[in-house]
Amino acid sequence: MTNTNPFRPGSGISPPYFAGRNREIDIFRKKLDKSMNDDFIQHMAIVSGWGSGKTSLLLKFKEIARGINCPVLPVQLYSVMDTKDFVELFVNSASFVVPPSKWKKFSSAVSSLGINVMGTGVQVVKQASFFEPQTAFCHSLKNIWNNSHTQLIPVMIDDIQLITKKEQTLEILRNVFTWAANEGYKFMLVVSGTLDLFERFQEAHSPLTRFFEPLILNPLSSDEIRDAVLKPLENTSISFSDDVVEQIITLSEGNPFYIQLLASHAFEHARNNIVNLDDFKLSLISAINDVSARMFDNMFNKLCMNEKNVLRILYESDVPMRWGEVLEMAENSGIKRASARTSLKRLIDNELLKSVKPQKYEKQYTLRDVLFKEYLSAKLDKVSKVSKVSKV
Ligand SMILES: Nc1ncnc2c1ncn2[C@@H]1O[C@H](COP(=O)(O)OP(=O)(O)OP(=O)(O)O)[C@@H](O)[C@H]1O
Ligand SMILES: [Mg+2]
Repeated sequence: MTNTNPFRPGSGISPPYFAGRNREIDIFRKKLDKSMNDDFIQHMAIVSGWGSGKTSLLLKFKEIARGINCPVLPVQLYSVMDTKDFVELFVNSASFVVPPSKWKKFSSAVSSLGINVMGTGVQVVKQASFFEPQTAFCHSLKNIWNNSHTQLIPVMIDDIQLITKKEQTLEILRNVFTWAANEGYKFMLVVSGTLDLFERFQEAHSPLTRFFEPLILNPLSSDEIRDAVLKPLENTSISFSDDVVEQIITLSEGNPFYIQLLASHAFEHARNNIVNLDDFKLSLISAINDVSARMFDNMFNKLCMNEKNVLRILYESDVPMRWGEVLEMAENSGIKRASARTSLKRLIDNELLKSVKPQKYEKQYTLRDVLFKEYLSAKLDKVSKVSKVSKV
């Protein structure tokens, strides 16, 4: 028994207990099996919003693949990359599947394509204009495959939306990996990205949709949230009362980051080894301060006055509102229609608002989540009321 806090709110940190995601794991296992034992390679894209467990799920997939002796090629992206950077990063990540004894031979082969490979001592001085990403990528895949001895190479690319020329890169990925499969080089792509990136995947017949077969990660169910909270507590001497667990279910709305955040702060507020509702209420203040410092303040402080006032309209409404309704209310309160439209669009693009679509009805908009609403209750009081809106 320990009293060390087991919860791990963060980004890219494996949880103390991995809850749910059975559907996604099952699909991954089947695709992996089929791709290994058949010539038909099946790719996969995991799409969902902030803190919803994409990275943790890819780590789980990696564990599963390794469990059947299938080493993974992970590509760790950083922001603002163009296609050339991407190809270079990809090739350098090949060290995960190309054994050290073959690395030298491999790197001199790909260096001749204009790709800088770390640890070769060869600085490639080819001009960017001479570098043709698609051709260089195809040759690199051939070299990776020929230098690694495995039945299949799953390639895992997290946060693919970080690539600046993402549309072009996704097309190149599709072309190059289709070519590779036809040549008998078995690479299985597993990528993750935000919902907006894959919006065009929603078009039923888009070739990218058919290629990546995107899966949207849903919020965890009540039972899964209960597991995510209660299982890690089993090794500690702390317990949460039932109503505290219910509060975490309601306030987290199934978002894994929020589950870890709320449970972690609750744990810190235990008295006599138990967390009751009153302790939880106190812990909620520190949880909201925590998420504000990590995210909400940054989002809120960037808003102009009109955006704050449009946000207030949504904050004050108990129900989601249609686009036209929001614009009408904004106009009535003195914001010009064109600015109201721009403000609303920016709030949606920056994920302060989300859309919901009741069956057969027009899209409606509401605040991103319950915790953000809690945060706004303190913030918006300090912002001038709608009547003082600047008429931009
Ligand atoms: N299945 C799960 N069960 C319990 N907790 C989880 C689960 N998946 C993720 N978490 C936790 O949720 C938090 C966010 O997870 P993760 O970083 O994987 O999400 P993400 O979608 O990659 O986030 P980001 O938008 O920051 O990239 C982490 O603290 C992680 O430990
Ligand atoms: Mg992530």
